Amino acid sequence: MTPPRTVLLTGASGRIAGQLLPALRDAYDLRLVDVKDTDRAGEQVTGVEIFDVLEAHPDSLAALCEGVDTIVHAGYVTDGAARGYASERSNVDMTQRIYDAATTAGVRRVVCASTNQASKWYEQPYYQGRIDRVSVDDYPRPDSFYGWAKVAYESLGFLYACGSLGTQLEVVQIRIVAPREIDSADFRDRPLQHYLRDIAGYISERDLQQLFVKCIETADIRDRFGVPFQIFYGVSNNARTFWSITNAREVVDYQPVDDSEVKFAEQIAAMVRRG
Ligand SMILES: NC(=O)c1ccc[n+]([C@@H]2O[C@H](COP(=O)([O-])OP(=O)(O)OC[C@H]3O[C@@H](n4cnc5c(N)ncnc54)[C@H](O)[C@@H]3O)[C@@H](O)[C@H]2O)c1
Repeated sequence: MTPPRTVLLTGASGRIAGQLLPALRDAYDLRLVDVKDTDRAGEQVTGVEIFDVLEAHPDSLAALCEGVDTIVHAGYVTDGAARGYASERSNVDMTQRIYDAATTAGVRRVVCASTNQASKWYEQPYYQGRIDRVSVDDYPRPDSFYGWAKVAYESLGFLYACGSLGTQLEVVQIRIVAPREIDSADFRDRPLQHYLRDIAGYISERDLQQLFVKCIETADIRDRFGVPFQIFYGVSNNARTFWSITNAREVVDYQPVDDSEVKFAEQIAAMVRRG
């Protein structure tokens, strides 16, 4: 029997990691690192090693990556609501350290948690009825430092993947949109279109898990030029769409099972009646 892959998960005590961990624990030999070992609710996360990806000596980072098949990078520094330039630059630095250590240690693939905020600006013409779809082929247009940092580390991932640094690291970026159960009460005083935007961006926990696992497992993720680099939007099989997942269906056989239109049907009907 083939031994399970060794997967290093950064930001292991964070929210996204918490959604992924049940699936990852089942399938992989895990190394979990974070600067804290409790989640947002203050609960201990089993198996987390305290490790600062941003500050660790390059040798200890390389040692951490030794024997690792895939790194799932969900580590994220925040300065709270501000999400200013300095803290977001730290996220670019942290991700660069991950790519670099992965390359040095011969890691096969890095799968990064990114966000639709990399192209958030497109929601303006969407709300105006001027576009009805955004795909990863659209030029990234962030409208915050948070989104800008994601664009920066996504494109840095291409540099590590394309071979010009001497080796090719396989890199996937997952632009997660709305990985949470949507409550219409949160939109009581907001325009209907903001609510419907979240409905279109919804991704259920099991679809998020499926997408990440397929991004780890799919053998060939080369683009049409042969570069092992992909960007996918992370949404469920929603009837209302804006973020295209066509390429995720094609490249990694993503087959999301949930549809926000079904899951939140009653709430949607009430909200649409409200207008
Ligand atoms: N939660 C969402 O709604 C959402 C949506 C789209 C994309 N994302 C992306 O997913 C990623 C993870 O987000 P999250 O919501 O889980 O954030 P989070 O803040 O809940 O988790 C991030 C984790 O990274 C850890 N961390 C911070 N600095 C570190 C360091 N130097 N070394 C190691 N670990 C460190 C934190 O302690 C935290 O536990 C981010 O890149 C975020 O942009 C999240």
